[in-house]
Amino acid sequence: MNFFKEELEKIKQADQDRNMTYLESAQDSKVLIDGKEYLIFGSNNYLNLSNNREIIESVKDAVDKYGYGSGGSRLTTGSYDVNRRLEEDLAKFKGTEKALVFNTGYMANVGVISAICDRKWSIFSDRINHGSIVDGIVLSGAKFKRYKHNDIEDLKKLLSEDESKYKLIVTDGVFSMDGDIAPLEEISLLAKEYEALLMIDDAHGVGVLGENGKGTVSHLGLEGKVDIQVGTLSKAFGCIGGYVAGDADMVDYVKNRAKSFIFATSNPPLNSVAVLKSLELVKNADEKRKDLLEKSAYLRRKLKEKNFDVIDGITPIIAVVVGSSKEVLRIQNSLLEEGIYVPGIRPPTVPRNTGRLRISLMSNHTYGDLDILIKKLGEIL
Ligand SMILES: Cc1ncc(COP(=O)(O)O)c(C=O)c1O
Repeated sequence: MNFFKEELEKIKQADQDRNMTYLESAQDSKVLIDGKEYLIFGSNNYLNLSNNREIIESVKDAVDKYGYGSGGSRLTTGSYDVNRRLEEDLAKFKGTEKALVFNTGYMANVGVISAICDRKWSIFSDRINHGSIVDGIVLSGAKFKRYKHNDIEDLKKLLSEDESKYKLIVTDGVFSMDGDIAPLEEISLLAKEYEALLMIDDAHGVGVLGENGKGTVSHLGLEGKVDIQVGTLSKAFGCIGGYVAGDADMVDYVKNRAKSFIFATSNPPLNSVAVLKSLELVKNADEKRKDLLEKSAYLRRKLKEKNFDVIDGITPIIAVVVGSSKEVLRIQNSLLEEGIYVPGIRPPTVPRNTGRLRISLMSNHTYGDLDILIKKLGEIL
């Protein structure tokens, strides 16, 4: 059968062939690739915690105590005292009654949505929401209603036409490929008006926005207005995992119904120990966050001054739209030759002809690093 060959050929023809870049050092603002040092601008390790000394030391102790593998799923033998502590601390941090930790943010989104919704539900989802939200919706069997990106009028129209018994509105807090923030206050008002549940995926907001890094809901002053808060422990936290936080009944229901929670071996206990330490560091990082957002504003401003097509926002995800996949690859490769690694993002991850450089900053990038990127991009573009 020629299926794979033919399909791969189509992918290559569209300049959408994907390959990995292998790092030979820790995830930091400078990394080693094939023995050569590169400045990277594409990591989600926003607070540079994945390579933090205190977290590393805590993990060393944890591996001596718990070993490595967890040995079971969370509802059988794979829950540890540190899982309970982490879920209690996360709920306190998010200001909710309860929290539940999944192995990844992807599994949290898929598990939560498909656990809560079925054919009796309509789900209203921003058109550029993350793929894990889309997969959760498809798996749930609910009616899938996509509204235009951040378009309140379109959302209102879809809600007003809907006759389902139950409704869920779901949006990213910070959009992963655009770096902009959802108009959550307006969305929460619509949720109230149409008696819909409101869910936010704050993968890129938690740790980065809000007081103590509590995320987009806190940044916008909307505590208590969002029913279901999903997030990841794999980006600003520098570890691995995802969580859902909210009312006790919702979280307990998800624990009983989410297949990606039930049918998977849990993460190693040492990961919970790492996240507990990371959570302390995240909470105390207001200065670091301020500095990160200032650097983000500086880079956005400088790139705009050079007339690059930069998507507006305040977050450390700075998308420079360049158009075709070919052009994305050309720029990515030219930057690599200059010792700079910026992942180019192509369809189907982003809509056709909106291929882009997804620049993201870490708190330990220096203004000197940013100036190098600005200069090299100017030369290449
Ligand atoms: C918006 C968004 N949600 C969810 C996820 C999934 O999180 P994780 O990487 O922890 O699986 C990601 C990242 O990949 C993301 O960007």
